[in-house]
Amino acid sequence: MRVAIFLSMAIVLSLYSCCKHADNKPTIIPQPKELKFGRYSFKLDQNTVIAYQEKSLKDMSGYFSDLLISTFGITLKTMAFDDAPATNTIVLRLAAEIKEGIGEEGYVLIVKEGNVIIRAKTQSGLFYGIQSLYQLLLTGEKVEDGTEISIVIPALEIFDEPRFSYRGMHLDVARHMFPVEFIKKYIDLLALYKFNTFHWHLTEDQGWRIEIKKYPELTEIGSMRKETLIGHGGKQPFKYDGEPYGGYYTQDEIKEIVDYAAKRQITVIPEIEMPGHSLAALATYPDLACTPGPFEVATRWGVFEDIYCTKEETFEFLENVLLEVMELFPSEYIHIGGDEAPKARWKECPVCQEVIQKEGLKDEHELQSYFIQRMEKFLNSHGRKIIGWDEILEGGLAPNATVMSWRGTEGGIAAAKQGHDAIMTPGSHCYFDHYQSKSDTEPLAIGGYITLEKLYSYDPVPDTLTPEEANHILGAQGNVWTEYMKTPEHVEYMVLPRLAALSEVNWSDKKDWNRFKNKMDYHFRIYDDLGYNYCDHPYENNNSNN
Ligand code: ACM
Ligand code: ZN
Repeated sequence: MRVAIFLSMAIVLSLYSCCKHADNKPTIIPQPKELKFGRYSFKLDQNTVIAYQEKSLKDMSGYFSDLLISTFGITLKTMAFDDAPATNTIVLRLAAEIKEGIGEEGYVLIVKEGNVIIRAKTQSGLFYGIQSLYQLLLTGEKVEDGTEISIVIPALEIFDEPRFSYRGMHLDVARHMFPVEFIKKYIDLLALYKFNTFHWHLTEDQGWRIEIKKYPELTEIGSMRKETLIGHGGKQPFKYDGEPYGGYYTQDEIKEIVDYAAKRQITVIPEIEMPGHSLAALATYPDLACTPGPFEVATRWGVFEDIYCTKEETFEFLENVLLEVMELFPSEYIHIGGDEAPKARWKECPVCQEVIQKEGLKDEHELQSYFIQRMEKFLNSHGRKIIGWDEILEGGLAPNATVMSWRGTEGGIAAAKQGHDAIMTPGSHCYFDHYQSKSDTEPLAIGGYITLEKLYSYDPVPDTLTPEEANHILGAQGNVWTEYMKTPEHVEYMVLPRLAALSEVNWSDKKDWNRFKNKMDYHFRIYDDLGYNYCDHPYENNNSNN
């Protein structure tokens, strides 16, 4: 009797929740291109089935099912479409045409009373449809019935695709290193916001963090520094903590991370810095420098004068390193750094001066260009393309290089005007190591001030470009330099919520700050639910002129 009452109550409950209107509030970030709310709602419960229309989508279904288990504790069956029931299913479908004009990364998401359908031309598109659905579920209405939970989301139709093809986030693991589990958690966040590129900054003055089998000393010596600066690097006298610091990622760990990212439609672009920011390598192999050394892995932050010499041994070393890097990273792009390489040592070095003479170069800036062009030729011959920071424009751009514009937007503009692709990461808007609030409680940062609203206002396409030149702007990226971020929690704090704003900068044609702010209320709860640390006062001091 009691069971019968319980059952009938459960039915009433479920009828109630499936047919009522759900909250028709937009919560998805980045904002979809077109979103239309319908009537009624869809209720996901333990009996909902994930149905894939072809076998190639089995892994994607598994990914989604795992996500629902880990987030909500709801275990759904996944099965081929032909075996699936007609209602209470989430259908994943690849189709050659999903809507006129929708591109490779686009998708259609339809939520109806009985079913959810996601259609896309590619796996990436489907993945983005899943992320939108996931956000709807995260912000949906949770109904608890005994031990069972179900989630009610509004009926709607979404047609969506991104504005830019490159949507990147960077992470410096050299100044401070982070566990593999955190790198995955970071990648999950990029996936949630439909980023498609993780730029992994792996080598620096302060540490070499990638295992290279041919040069084991790089990680025996180059990955360790004897101590680390305490406090801000702009404040003298310098004080150090006296504690050795280091670590590196094994090739197996790197493969695991590249695979993990690939399952989330994210390409990992490795960065191997040259010719500057190379003290960790020079501490390991002093012969690669212009002067005899010895050198030590840097213990404070900044730009150091000792850089790779342009001798043949350097090129041989870097090519061998890159051969292993290419084995690990299938990305079309390899980032070769190129920034902040002082020319003082090259000016005094007989070998470097001889290269200048022999190659008929004008000065050390052209020598840097020669350096980068040699590396480009090598990587191009292996079917890869280079990205470099905007200093690679100096002395002449390598023929096929993509420029990452960081010292403002001028580098990106110059590249685009020369017919080269550019990725915009200007320090004025895209540096996540800057303060995001003027609150007294902010943790120490490198400096600068980039509020959520300022980042949100950024348009990656400079208005001085013609439409044709503008086509060379591939998108924007946020840079996370970790001199002052020692822990995963601190990285999360600096990244959130600004990452959400950047996702809309890269994805959405029509931004709306007030709409975004309203959606952020829901996303703060998402960060709580998923266990991310974040800055909860991103609207303070926004009227400052700094
Ligand atoms: C850079 O911030 N040095 C690229
Ligand atoms: Zn030299």
